[in-house]
Amino acid sequence: MKVLLVAGARPNFIKIAPLVAAMDAHGGFVRELVHTGQHFDDSMSAVFFAELGIPRPDHDLKVGSGSHARQTAEIMSRFEPVLRRSAPDVVVVVGDVNSTLACALTAAKEGIPVAHVEAGLRSFDRRMPEELNRMVTDALSDLLFVSEPAGVTNLLREGLGDRGIHLVGNVMIDTLRRFREAARERQVARRLGLVARQYAVVTLHRPSNVDDPEVLGGILRALGRISAEVPVILPAHPRARGILMAAGAEWPGLRVIEPLGYLDFLDLISDAMVAITDSGGVQEETTVLGVPCLTVRENTERPITIEQGSNRLVGTDALRIIAEFERVRKGEVAQGRVPDLWDGGAARRIVEVLASREV
Ligand code: UD1
Ligand code: UDP
Repeated sequence: MKVLLVAGARPNFIKIAPLVAAMDAHGGFVRELVHTGQHFDDSMSAVFFAELGIPRPDHDLKVGSGSHARQTAEIMSRFEPVLRRSAPDVVVVVGDVNSTLACALTAAKEGIPVAHVEAGLRSFDRRMPEELNRMVTDALSDLLFVSEPAGVTNLLREGLGDRGIHLVGNVMIDTLRRFREAARERQVARRLGLVARQYAVVTLHRPSNVDDPEVLGGILRALGRISAEVPVILPAHPRARGILMAAGAEWPGLRVIEPLGYLDFLDLISDAMVAITDSGGVQEETTVLGVPCLTVRENTERPITIEQGSNRLVGTDALRIIAEFERVRKGEVAQGRVPDLWDGGAARRIVEVLASREV
């Protein structure tokens, strides 16, 4: 079976790594890898290929940044000729970024079956660009690989029950489990002069948080206060760094640093007292690591991280964030449990389904 596997942005690279490994281990696949170029800085792209052992892409579309329409259209027009030349049996897309949607739509219009990994997640917030990408990608897909039970419910509610829906677990966690030991050797906390469980890690990049000065102001007031109590490490996404600096995010206890590679980041959150984040991936990783996570959003498409894991939705109000941080500091948090099927075997299960079907 010939598979075209698509990735474009940081979380995609983490998700495709185990799929590549599982396809190669299976042996029954001819696999070609497409990098759309949505993310392109070394710290957002190359480092993940190097650390996670992802082979060099067979097709490098080099689209770069742009408005949603421009970026999506550019990916589609560069992907279409690749698709025609390559003529795969199936296109596999992961996650919910513009590259996911653009390549799913291109493939569906060419009549090529689409498999979506991380299907069915819904925040029910259509102001989130990712929510639109998720809904449209799922509607276009023939195979829907789901990471948590709510995803299956959502797909059925949307009338997609005639597709191949498979609850397979979480490929993000496949990567975490595979690289956790290697990450421990990084000793990042020690290198940064931090004491385990006595610092906070923050990631912020959602437009709803960093582009709205009022919302950002609330989050920053909370971080300013928290950074007076424990060191706060903020590896800044490129879209957020300038905004954070312009908003005056400078306190002695706050360290805004470059985005970290996967192993360093995994090691850093593993030893943190708390993660404060608007990232999807970080909500899942902290659930598996048993590290308290305060999600500065009003909703999440990953409800299992709250129901079973260590995640709490805390919104963006400064006082609420500070109060939730104090609860964590006093140890008033449930450690939670690891969701079923988040066991390191998701990619293998996906590959078994692909191999067993005549797509
Ligand atoms: C994208 C995804 C988001 C995901 C995030 C993961 C969409 C709509 N959004 O958001 O769902 O959570 O990736 O990190 O697909 N930039 C650089 N260097 C890079 C990449 C980006 O400088 O390597 C800067 C550019 O100024 C760019 C901005 O970041 O305009 C936004 O990049 P883009 O890929 O459009 O969206 P993200 O905010 O990264
Ligand atoms: N990550 C990383 N370095 C960083 C920040 C994040 O390696 O400095 C990893 C981390 O594993 C996270 C993943 O990148 O889960 C994706 O994070 P991001 O917030 O970019 O995307 P999202 O999951 O919100 O789509």
